[in-house]
Amino acid sequence: MSTIKLDLAKLDACLKTTNLGKSASNELWEELDSTNTRAYFLANSQAPSGTVVMARKQTAGRGRQGRPWQSPKDAGIYASFILRPTCKKEDIPVYTLALGVAASRAILSSTGVEVGLKWVNDLVVGRKKLGGILAEMVGDDFPPALILGIGINLNLSNVEIPDDLVNHVEWLSRLTGSEIDPNYLLAELALNLEELSNYIDAGDKAHVLDAWRKHSVTLGKQVQVIGSEGSHKDNKEGTALDINEDGALIVETVGGERLTLYAGEISIRNLDGTYC
Ligand code: BTN
Repeated sequence: MSTIKLDLAKLDACLKTTNLGKSASNELWEELDSTNTRAYFLANSQAPSGTVVMARKQTAGRGRQGRPWQSPKDAGIYASFILRPTCKKEDIPVYTLALGVAASRAILSSTGVEVGLKWVNDLVVGRKKLGGILAEMVGDDFPPALILGIGINLNLSNVEIPDDLVNHVEWLSRLTGSEIDPNYLLAELALNLEELSNYIDAGDKAHVLDAWRKHSVTLGKQVQVIGSEGSHKDNKEGTALDINEDGALIVETVGGERLTLYAGEISIRNLDGTYC
């Protein structure tokens, strides 16, 4: 277990943002079901843009595709940002990519570890997953509130990892050999996210898309598109060509068909022919 814990006063001392994370409505919980669920509730109760909900432990952390997100105490960052974007409606999905870029930049500047972005929102080191992002919209109104949740593995050394995941999971302290300060890392992440969000709000989403391309481990790779609901029966193989201006992934299949993926799952082909 880590001895450096998330702490609102320490986080505040590290924060260099103008708005993000500066709200008096920020919350840090010892234990919570899910920071995304709590942020959703707060967004519905008019919490201001820039509010962050954090927890030292989640009992029902949620991943994409309805999967659980293991969130042991002080072993990771579990945080959800409430944003009220002022950009065009069609630009909203780019915020999810912005959070991925912000996280990779923050991890590099605070730990020296280079993190890749696997479309659509996995943080990976080599073939292993270091973190993930869960984006959710609140209501159908425009402008909407956007919940951007992120989980980053900091220290899983003493955590029992299920057999099927053990070769697929990475954590930062294993890579750096030292303890990670979640306050500093989260503050760096907020600063980068605020900067990238400002570009989107100012109509320059291309800046974020280009930054995402630079961190991508997906583009140019052979990929397998996992069928609906995670089923493998409709899998298609092809090459990931690019992301379009909405952040959707363009895949050219071996048969020459062009797919535009707005959500879902892909596996990337390794040199030995396996997929991860
Ligand atoms: C994924 O499946 O890769 C997304 C994982 C997102 C996990 C984070 S942890 C903080 C926030 N609260 C949640 O319940 N989920 C997200």
